[in-house]
Amino acid sequence: MPINDPVGFNEEAIINSVIAKMIAKREKAHSPGVPARRFLHGKSLGFANAVFTVNELPEELRLGFFAYPKDYRAVVRFSNGGLSEKAWDVIPNVRGMAVKIFDVPGPKMLPGEESSRELDIVLANDQTFFVAHLEEIARLMDGKFAELLMKSPGTIFRALAASNKFVSSVLDIDYFSQVPHRFGDRACKFSFTHDGQPANFPNIFDPNYMRHSMEKQLRSEPYSFTFNVQFQQKGDSIADSTKRWKGDFIPLGELRILQINRKINESDGETLEFNPFRTLHEHEPLGWPGRARKAVYAADFAWRQKINRQEQEKGERALV
Ligand code: HEM
Repeated sequence: MPINDPVGFNEEAIINSVIAKMIAKREKAHSPGVPARRFLHGKSLGFANAVFTVNELPEELRLGFFAYPKDYRAVVRFSNGGLSEKAWDVIPNVRGMAVKIFDVPGPKMLPGEESSRELDIVLANDQTFFVAHLEEIARLMDGKFAELLMKSPGTIFRALAASNKFVSSVLDIDYFSQVPHRFGDRACKFSFTHDGQPANFPNIFDPNYMRHSMEKQLRSEPYSFTFNVQFQQKGDSIADSTKRWKGDFIPLGELRILQINRKINESDGETLEFNPFRTLHEHEPLGWPGRARKAVYAADFAWRQKINRQEQEKGERALV
């Protein structure tokens, strides 16, 4: 099916206004002396080393990163979508999964990082994205929830439904790109489906039980996720990702999270930056959410890097 992905009238201006609102919020909320984290997905639920294996695939699936079978070194960071870094894990939330794969040849799409050897895949634990239109992201940024509830109540209900799932461990659930990517000349979505044994029922009174469950599971054995692709079918929308696509998920590879014999700290992997545009042209993120994330994630990363550098310099001066 040919890809139909027109750029919306005013899209760039709205994305820029979303960035300006985000940075203004960050400036206002920042407490001097406290390291700046991500604007969203601030709390880490676990970080680990992994190996991503591309399977031997049939001819029609062999392209871009999936052109030939190979093992790649990777890392994975699991996170809570919203709320503070101190929020208890038992509180309903979106759970995110960000995978960074190393030593991937070929030019990358993220401006200024064309020669990067990294490839990022960023997903969350629901099949669909809760926002239908870019304008709603701007309203969310303004905190205009009453207006949002009047104009598009579905956004609020979808957000609540996506967050309200009990999770025993981040290794026990499936993750979805939610929004489309290119797969050569076709549009697709990606998923990671879990393969390992589930954790025992966790101690939900431990505010960080997810990281502790993950640590316990990985101390006993490695954990695998199957990586899948789902191709766009007739009637599946690229612009509106609030509806599930119809196609089957086809396995392309495996993410094997390695066994550990150490503690997982909340700050592990904190300095890494993930961006779905750090990818090959064959896998370009599509739709307005893809284009918005390219600029928004880069701006958020640049801001927290700047603040953390300033804090570090202040700390060094204080030591003199
Ligand atoms: C236009 C839509 C979206 C906006 C504006 C947005 C915004 C953000 C921002 C500002 C960050 C922090 C980036 C950083 O400082 O490094 C972030 C991180 C993240 N987002 Fe999104 N996001 C969007 C859509 C999505 C979607 C569709 C998913 C999943 C399918 C997703 C999953 C994640 C994850 C997992 C992270 C954490 C990455 C990490 O571990 O560093 N986001 N998002």
